[in-house]
Amino acid sequence: MSERAKISALLVMQDAPVIPVIVLHDVADAVPMARALLAGGIRMLEVTLRTTQALACIEAIAREVPDAVVGAGTVRSRADAQAAAMAGARFAVSPGYTSALGQACFDAGLALLPGVATGSEIMLAREEGLTELKFFPALQAGGVAMLKAWSGPFFDVRFCPTGGVSLQNAADFLALPNVVCVGGSWLVPPDALAQGDWARITQLAQDSRRLRG
Ligand code: 3PG
Repeated sequence: MSERAKISALLVMQDAPVIPVIVLHDVADAVPMARALLAGGIRMLEVTLRTTQALACIEAIAREVPDAVVGAGTVRSRADAQAAAMAGARFAVSPGYTSALGQACFDAGLALLPGVATGSEIMLAREEGLTELKFFPALQAGGVAMLKAWSGPFFDVRFCPTGGVSLQNAADFLALPNVVCVGGSWLVPPDALAQGDWARITQLAQDSRRLRG
């Protein structure tokens, strides 16, 4: 299988304890930032489609940092999915789930980690074959207690809690049997990007990597 072979959401989740949620405004930051995370042991990178430069950043990482696996975050439409795949994204993360988005990611060849916050959303995703889901926004929507409650009826679903997760509380989530990894923006702080402080990003990646013993 080639390096660009299709991956699954589970593979994306299992690679490290944390998927970094990345917001980039300057394409010049993309490659050094990706290399800094990689140096700290984090290679699954979620670059959110929230800035005008996001697709160019995905493209640069896909082209110049082949050991990283770049995905697109904030994927909300078929157009987002198509653009992300064209730019070289291998997976998509979305803040919610619709059947249309599921189909669009499938058509674009992107693994999808879709956001859910209710039992009905979990049931819809599950009906459509998705059992690895992002719990978003995790802290605001019930946190650890919600995941414990879901572990009964949704015993066959695994989660990536994202939203309000930090280096301080990540271990509480990771200790749950239905949590594979967490997502969080703390690995790439805006001030570290502004200062080009790649060593700090590597350090944060290393600290995050150690979250699962
Ligand atoms: C987001 O959508 O920005 C993510 O959920 C990250 O949330 P966080 O900044 O609380 O980690």
